[in-house]
Amino acid sequence: MLSIVVCVSGGGTNLQAILDGIGNGTIQNTRVAGVISNNAGAYALKRAEAAQVPAFCISPRSFESRQEFNRAFVEKLKSLDPDLIVLAGFLVILPPEMIEIWRGRIINIHPSLIPSFCGTGYYGLKVHEAALSRGVKVTGATVHYVDEGTDTGEIIFQKAVAVLEGDTPEILQRRVMEEAEWVILPAAINRIAQAAAQGRI
Ligand code: GRF
Repeated sequence: MLSIVVCVSGGGTNLQAILDGIGNGTIQNTRVAGVISNNAGAYALKRAEAAQVPAFCISPRSFESRQEFNRAFVEKLKSLDPDLIVLAGFLVILPPEMIEIWRGRIINIHPSLIPSFCGTGYYGLKVHEAALSRGVKVTGATVHYVDEGTDTGEIIFQKAVAVLEGDTPEILQRRVMEEAEWVILPAAINRIAQAAAQGRI
């Protein structure tokens, strides 16, 4: 059984896609050991509670220094002992120790076809604003492993989404979520869970 921890900062629709995927069998051999948010107001925490998944808020604002936040965050992760950490809209710089400990076992969902519209400053609506202002006809989403860089790790899955006449950043964001993010993130988790079940990782 693959034990995962999902890190969130916002609405949690990708978390919900994971929870739904476990419920409907799209994701097999997987359990969510916990959800951690840096944002006490994140609706993602309510989604976790509704699914009776342990939910925690650990915010940098609650600590005297970034080092103390990093230590507390890593301690919480260690206590949950995940096989895989899923970043689902998590807008916090990861503690270096976290990347060291779980190297090769952290994945992230990004709302573009990396290497387009990614890296520092590209998150949330900004990604879709950039895609529209560049005039691309196709965008999409990417699931990738996380390393020390920003959106630089090995790509696992990508899914393309058409940009349509009249798209606003909000309309495009929603389409990318519905047609790509909520499909490839559960698929990536399921692939990793099956590989773990077969002893291939
Ligand atoms: C998604 O667009 C995801 O691609 C990006 O942050 C957003 C998170 O949305 N990383 P949600 O919290 O999963 O609804």
